[in-house]
Amino acid sequence: MTQSMSFLIIAAMLAFAPLCLCGKTSGGYLYPQFYDRTCPKAKEIVYSIVAKAVAKEARMAASLIRLHFHDCFVKGCDASLLLDSIGAIISEKMSNPNRNSARGFEVIDEIKSALEKECPHTVSCADILALAARDSTVLSGGPSWEVPLGRRDSRGASLSGSNNNIPAPNNTFQTILTKFKLQGLDIVDLVALSGSHTIGKSRCTSFRQRLYNQSGNGQPDFTLNQAYANQLRTRCPRSGGDQNLFVLDFVTPTKFDNSYFKNLLASKGLLNSDQVLVTKSAVSLQLVKQYAQNNQLFFEQFPKSMLKMANISPLTGSKGEIRKNCRTVNS
Ligand code: HEM
Repeated sequence: MTQSMSFLIIAAMLAFAPLCLCGKTSGGYLYPQFYDRTCPKAKEIVYSIVAKAVAKEARMAASLIRLHFHDCFVKGCDASLLLDSIGAIISEKMSNPNRNSARGFEVIDEIKSALEKECPHTVSCADILALAARDSTVLSGGPSWEVPLGRRDSRGASLSGSNNNIPAPNNTFQTILTKFKLQGLDIVDLVALSGSHTIGKSRCTSFRQRLYNQSGNGQPDFTLNQAYANQLRTRCPRSGGDQNLFVLDFVTPTKFDNSYFKNLLASKGLLNSDQVLVTKSAVSLQLVKQYAQNNQLFFEQFPKSMLKMANISPLTGSKGEIRKNCRTVNS
């Protein structure tokens, strides 16, 4: 083969390779321009509805970011979380991490129906979740990034996957890290993504045991600042008040910034899973210190880790389907 022939072949291969920020996934690629021809207004429509919802209630940004996380950790980013219980499907909304906790489903419904009007049967619910998480971050003052698209929606849900794969607030540091590693995420991703707790709220029931020495050894939780603990006890009693809400970042509760990491260094992380990032691993402690010191560094890493999470086992090509309604599989 002549040199010019091989040059032509390589040039042709490059020209037809999709522009892609991400790795190859089973059977296809995700790339930001996926809907540019089939639904050019898709991104604007998602943004405008998320913006309206966040303007009405700042917490909605946090709730939407969390939906994407809880979706991706169960069978990949395939919108399995959005399915309601019907027929053989048992909804992931019933799982321990989601019951009485996951929220924002009505906003996703509103986005989906606007998109179905604009370009029917085109934009997946899984892509809506990925875009809404990015937009929520930006609208709260956080960093932006381009979202690779082209995910398709699952035809099933996994209640056991939801119960087992999503870390619980009382899991040990090692268990949490293992759950991240099972998804292809590492300790850097764990610390950066935990930085999402710079916004949003938690219920009393998710951290009560830290306040009442329920660790079993009768010792106070020395990893929790005692003045802060006293303050929390006033609305999170030993029994009752399970659903009372507390901001995850008491300094700037609705602003996406690095104060979450500063709080951890002052022993004022709300969840045990937050505080263990500084008490159980020298590597994660170092990362927390870096992000606490340098907001820019956090803002650089967060999008990278979100992109990794958003690329967990997506359904592409002819796998799955584009749901017409995010709550039900197509008939
Ligand atoms: C590292 C392990 C993690 C654990 C154990 C954990 C646990 C929790 C818990 C217990 C809550 C409060 C839920 C409630 O009481 O109703 C919460 C809230 C939240 N989590 Fe996590 N989380 C983790 C990682 C993440 C990650 C990776 C993200 C995003 C990428 C995230 C985003 C959020 C957000 C934004 C909220 C506030 C939601 C709202 O206000 O509606 N979390 N998390």
